Amino acid sequence: MFLSAASRESHWEQIYRQRAVDSVSWYQQSPTVSLELLDAVGARPDEPVLDVGSGASVLVDALLDRGFSDLSVLDVSASALDLSRSRLGVRAGTVHWHTADVLEWRPERHYSLWHDRAVFHFLTQASERERYVSTLKSALRPGARVVVGTFSVDGPEKCSGLPVQRYDADGLAGTFGDAFELLEQRREEHHTPRDAIQVFTWVAMRLR
Ligand SMILES: C[S@@+](CC[C@H](N)C(=O)[O-])C[C@H]1O[C@@H](n2cnc3c(N)ncnc32)[C@H](O)[C@@H]1O
Repeated sequence: MFLSAASRESHWEQIYRQRAVDSVSWYQQSPTVSLELLDAVGARPDEPVLDVGSGASVLVDALLDRGFSDLSVLDVSASALDLSRSRLGVRAGTVHWHTADVLEWRPERHYSLWHDRAVFHFLTQASERERYVSTLKSALRPGARVVVGTFSVDGPEKCSGLPVQRYDADGLAGTFGDAFELLEQRREEHHTPRDAIQVFTWVAMRLR
């Protein structure tokens, strides 16, 4: 199923307007694997970080708690970012907010760390994945690291009612091409708020 940029925006806007943040299947109280992988690739608090498709995730809160000073978040849903801004209160002022579709977005600066949990797997068309990787490369500093989590090959076939592309670690890293070196991989069993298990594949890569 191919969604236009306008359909993607309205799909996600509707969800964040209608659902409680802690009721969506991807909700997690603590972004444990993301933080473990950022640690594993040696992320330093002075490095610029971008969380792509951040939704209302508390990763940004956790990174602020750890002293990260150059944080950017991007999501196609303005409502998702509003939820995060309200939660953060005055701390929101130190974060760079981008309401944008990553497939349409043109980065205006470079990042040392790019994080994506459960966004890349929605790109079921090769042309969408190529576009994402091209944007990613244009947004990275030399030696940057990329942390991506998707549904695993034994994970669900859909997320939020949309079909997903499922990956094992080699397949996921391979999709990003030779420009990236695979540093770390993880398999995660995510427990949804309804206590279902969703298996994720995670990779951490470095731009060669
Ligand atoms: C499954 S949720 C994951 C949210 C967050 N990363 C987390 O782990 O809680 C997917 C998120 O990606 C956003 N999203 C989906 N497609 C996008 C796109 N093309 N560009 C930017 N954001 C997108 C949605 O609005 C939603 O917030």
